[in-house]
Amino acid sequence: MDWKTKIDTKRLPRHIAVIMDGNGRWAKEQGKPRVFGHRSGVKSVREITEAAAELGVEYLTLYAFSTENWSRPKLEVSALMRLLVETVYQETNTLMENNIRLRAIGEIDKLPKATCQALLEGIEKTKANTGTTLVLALNYSGKWDITQATRHLAAEVAAGRLRSEDITDSHVAAALSTQGMPDPELLIRTSGEARISNFLLWQLAYAELYFSPVFWPDFRKANFYQAIVDFQHRERRFGKISEQIV
Ligand code: IPE
Ligand code: IPE
Ligand code: MG
Repeated sequence: MDWKTKIDTKRLPRHIAVIMDGNGRWAKEQGKPRVFGHRSGVKSVREITEAAAELGVEYLTLYAFSTENWSRPKLEVSALMRLLVETVYQETNTLMENNIRLRAIGEIDKLPKATCQALLEGIEKTKANTGTTLVLALNYSGKWDITQATRHLAAEVAAGRLRSEDITDSHVAAALSTQGMPDPELLIRTSGEARISNFLLWQLAYAELYFSPVFWPDFRKANFYQAIVDFQHRERRFGKISEQIV
């Protein structure tokens, strides 16, 4: 099936978020170490980013490392951190060629120095690009995001710049790490797991959830297009009834 031709390009989601899951199981199936799965997952990152850019999706957010992932075996964590550095350096040219701007969300300054440095360089080099924004969620946790936003708003109130009774959901949204970005309309999770795993908790409030059985290293453009087609067949009611939707 040629899924790409089935996409209505006038009704694309502005923001797609992806939980890239299943690298470890993919590797295990082939009798290889987990890190081999992570390495192979880079190809999927490249493909999906390129697909999003070609289609004209404004924001693509990839969950690359959660705060909870620090509890994995030390060797896996350090391999992942090295892979991130390598990938950001290697892919910067591709990002430039595709007019993609890099952005990161999460507690970036708590990442190993080299990883943080690579990211900041990639962000700096691509900052004038005007196409798709690729957002890497690194050392990210949805609860952390809401907590840091709360801290920021509390400080504003304490400083007398904001009255607590004036706080609206736009203030919260503007204090989150995703400030300025539309909420994701579509969340894709690969590998058959059906949970949010502390990803964008506030921002996913009304997202359509799409769970693919495919392990991340096998996820290709066609799988991504299929998810968008599925999204476009859904009726987004936002609390209303079907007859009220035009
Ligand atoms: C996702 O794949 C990548 C990261 C969390 C960094 P996993 O490593 O979680 O793979 P599984 O879920 O163990 O198969
Ligand atoms: C979620 O995947 C985090 C990332 C994809 C980076 P996990 O594999 O860590 O999630 P759980 O532990 O199965 O919920
Ligand atoms: Mg997993």
